Amino acid sequence: MNPLNHVAIIMDGNGRWGLKFKNSRKAGHKAGLNTVEKIIKSSIKHNIKFLTLYAFSTENWKRPKSEIMYLFNLLENFLVNKIDQLHTQNIKLKIIGNKNFSSKLNKLLKKAEQKTFNNNKLQINLALNYGSKSELLNAFKKLKKNKQKISENNLNKYLQTSNIPDPDLLIRTGNTNRLSNFLLWQLAYSEIFFEKKLWPSFNENDFKKIIKKYRIIKRNFGNIS
Ligand code: FPP
Repeated sequence: MNPLNHVAIIMDGNGRWGLKFKNSRKAGHKAGLNTVEKIIKSSIKHNIKFLTLYAFSTENWKRPKSEIMYLFNLLENFLVNKIDQLHTQNIKLKIIGNKNFSSKLNKLLKKAEQKTFNNNKLQINLALNYGSKSELLNAFKKLKKNKQKISENNLNKYLQTSNIPDPDLLIRTGNTNRLSNFLLWQLAYSEIFFEKKLWPSFNENDFKKIIKKYRIIKRNFGNIS
């Protein structure tokens, strides 16, 4: 049985779910946040150590301003209302991506990261204003600036995921089969599951079924047998 240490998720389909069931994309994001909470709980049950969630990409800035504001508002409320609960559950929150949001949100993110820094039951990496190409370019620039040899190990050190093992499993909901500039380097040998359900409809049982399938995959990392 394959060990499962790190699960990464592209939480796609909020907008479509919202339009279909509530006539509002924003309602889809709100419902998506409930799924986030369910999957956090379930990750703890499955003894997963790292959960990386793609919450906002560098490309998502192209969306209407009101949707972007709604998403960040949702995140602010989540941080204000839930950080103590996460902390009590021994969960560590880490942000990957460029933290250049409003000063209120930047402060909340910093506070949440500092408060939960020493927790070790589950690490949630929240990808916010994250883009893999930009992450890689910055890492190469740092290598060059510090006159370091270009090697896998050295590059890993300058990625925002340094000290985080590569994902074993990537799940993308929403019936779309692409990576959308997410962890392009880190996903090199991850098992990928594309799920038809929209993120707000995804539940613990769907997660469990994917984990069950993942456990028995023959992972040979390029080797034979
Ligand atoms: C993709 O669905 C989802 C997002 C861009 C936002 C993800 C946000 C959440 C799950 C809720 C907020 C999370 C936190 C942690 C506060 P989409 O809008 O692209 O859906 P579509 O493909 O149907 O349009």
